[in-house]
Amino acid sequence: MKKILVTGGAGYIGSHTVVELVEAGYEPVIIDNFSNTEERSLQGIADILGGDVTCHRIDCTDTAALREVFEKETDIEGVIHFAAFKAVGESVDEPLKYYHNNVGSLVALLQVMKEFNVNKLVFSSSCTVYGIPAELPVTEQTPVQKANSPYGNTKKICEEILTDLATSGSDMYTTALRYFNPIGAHPSAKIGELPLGVPNNLVPFITQTAAGIREQLTIFGNDYDTPDGTCIRDYVHVVDLAKAHVVAIERLLSGKAGNIEFFNVGTGTGNTVLEAVQAFERATGEKLNYKIGPRRPGDVPKIFADVTKATEELGFKTTTTLEEAMKSAWDWQMHLKETAK
Ligand code: WQD
Repeated sequence: MKKILVTGGAGYIGSHTVVELVEAGYEPVIIDNFSNTEERSLQGIADILGGDVTCHRIDCTDTAALREVFEKETDIEGVIHFAAFKAVGESVDEPLKYYHNNVGSLVALLQVMKEFNVNKLVFSSSCTVYGIPAELPVTEQTPVQKANSPYGNTKKICEEILTDLATSGSDMYTTALRYFNPIGAHPSAKIGELPLGVPNNLVPFITQTAAGIREQLTIFGNDYDTPDGTCIRDYVHVVDLAKAHVVAIERLLSGKAGNIEFFNVGTGTGNTVLEAVQAFERATGEKLNYKIGPRRPGDVPKIFADVTKATEELGFKTTTTLEEAMKSAWDWQMHLKETAK
């Protein structure tokens, strides 16, 4: 089986991608420092797969530790790099933490990959690089703009590093996936987004409110230029997103990929916050307690993907509806409640 190194593989999108890699016949090896996830993720992966996945507990900015892993794990065919911090608000308060971890881990990884002649990389990027997009839906040619946050800037800088590497004549082949809004959980409800503190993101806040953990959801603004005044996003189910990584690494290993390629990974459909809330209520039968509050600074009013390129070149298409995604998020929340007892 082809061995794929998955940094941040115990995290939200990483754990779902590890499961899809095994289902597709690959041998994933996880690297994680567990600074932003919990050991229980590994148990959830094992429960789904019926066996453990190798995990090295190291920090991706630690070049020496990375070297040790590459020495131990011979014949790594490719790498999927998730390891990064992703809380937009936190990045504004602690920019250095974000630049050190998100940019530092990529540079360290690239250095060690070069030493061990591993040259196929899938990079976890983000639609935040489009800022307030110049056009809708956004294509991969939509101009990348000044980031709204240090987090978004780290993704932009990482994309520039990878582009410079590709144009330097290096033999590194990178596919960068620009995620829209990942939501939901594995249908088994054994892995999902682990809530560390008060959720910044909409869907975990919705499920925690419905579960009685949070008092009430505040919808940040309903005076935007959208059908119901609330912001528009492209909510993509995490399993669909995970499958996009498998397709991307397969294409890299097949030799069909260019030196540096970017793909939007979303559904291609925009939904407002209120539509997302209503989809949750329809999917679960739960009535959500929410109110309209002031706008959140830095929010992009509207963004959703044009997924033509991923469809045509990766053969990738999302299959999960917004309601199904919301149901999976709710089932995961109930699993957390059951297992917390
Ligand atoms: C979505 C919408 C809020 C919480 C995230 C990540 C970013 C990137 C894209 C990966 C917005 C509204 C939210 C709440 C609300 N992902 N909202 N009340 O900001 O689009 O960005 O996905 O790279 O890293 O942060 O996601 O879930 O925070 O917000 O009304 O309590 O929900 O205003 O319109 P966002 P989000």
